[in-house]
Amino acid sequence: MLRRLHPVQPESFAYTPANLAWAEAQITKFPEGRQASAIIPLLWRAQEQEGWLSRPAIEYVADMLGMAHIRALEVATFYFMFQLQPVGSVANVQICGTTTCMICGAEDLISICREKIAPTPHTLSEDGKFSWEEVECLGACTNAPMVQIGKDFYEDLTAESFVAILDALASGEVPTPGPQNGRYGCEPLGGTVVLTEGNENAAPHNASVSLALAQGDTVKRIDGTEVPLLTPWADRGGRPAVSAATADATVAEAPAPKPAPAAKPAPAPKAKAAPAEPVVTEGTRPQALDAPRDGAADDLKKIKGIGPKLEQLCNSLGFYHFDQIAAWTADEIAWVDQNLEGFKGRVTRDEWVAQAKILAGGGETEFSARN
Ligand code: FES
Repeated sequence: MLRRLHPVQPESFAYTPANLAWAEAQITKFPEGRQASAIIPLLWRAQEQEGWLSRPAIEYVADMLGMAHIRALEVATFYFMFQLQPVGSVANVQICGTTTCMICGAEDLISICREKIAPTPHTLSEDGKFSWEEVECLGACTNAPMVQIGKDFYEDLTAESFVAILDALASGEVPTPGPQNGRYGCEPLGGTVVLTEGNENAAPHNASVSLALAQGDTVKRIDGTEVPLLTPWADRGGRPAVSAATADATVAEAPAPKPAPAAKPAPAPKAKAAPAEPVVTEGTRPQALDAPRDGAADDLKKIKGIGPKLEQLCNSLGFYHFDQIAAWTADEIAWVDQNLEGFKGRVTRDEWVAQAKILAGGGETEFSARN
């Protein structure tokens, strides 16, 4: 099957503030220089937010990770779990059409989708609420036929129970997922015959269904307010978990992230104050200039990870030259990392100092040579 970007694309994409905070926290899971490894969770979160992956979303994630757009596009178009076209605003129904489900009635379920949603897969229903697709085995063969809707499985389906689920979703309800024929889990259809002792004390639903019911988010879009920001490693590694701006936007109910390491007392600036007002005093402020030497600043965009906005921000902090950046100590890097509003942690993440050392010496990095 050809997987192409949808011909109609939105103008732009941006994470919700809470999702941005979540994404920034995910990036801290990976070692320096390996941030591109966060591509799958970040694309997935973009899809959870919007329902599908638009080109602006893919490129937004690529930019966050300092990747070429084509590399992110390769990932998004390779994995079938990524939807490259708009999906139903209420639900995208994924019907397992593999052997067991097919034998047990998946074709009936597909016929219902053709009739009630759209004649072809990956197509929106007339009201835009639903879409459907056939997928490969989802690993619930014992409870065939089954479909996945949102995060949940609806199993042991019949044409009638499937229609009832679609109708319930259409009317705004969130139906109970799991087996639809009274089975608890994947025990024999005739009932459990072994290890029966104590079963009378079991919860009314199996663990997956109980969790789904407790969360009640089967078909909900994820805006980030549901997920706590747990980044204990960020403290240990000394790297920022989330930016102040995005952390502020995180919902109040979300458990607070671990407190940042105790801030060091604010050191006196080593050099004259730069035009921009620093907001964090952790670390040591590097020597800054009022203006570029001889009126000619270096092209800081030759450093991978610095774009026009970051270059402007660096200049506003008094940093104009490669040799300034090349001379930063660990303490000074910590200061700059904390003061790049909207781009916190980029000095460390993109290894500016190592790149600046090469550029200050008149050499080229692989990145600067390409640009
Ligand atoms: S064949 Fe449908 S879940 Fe495995």
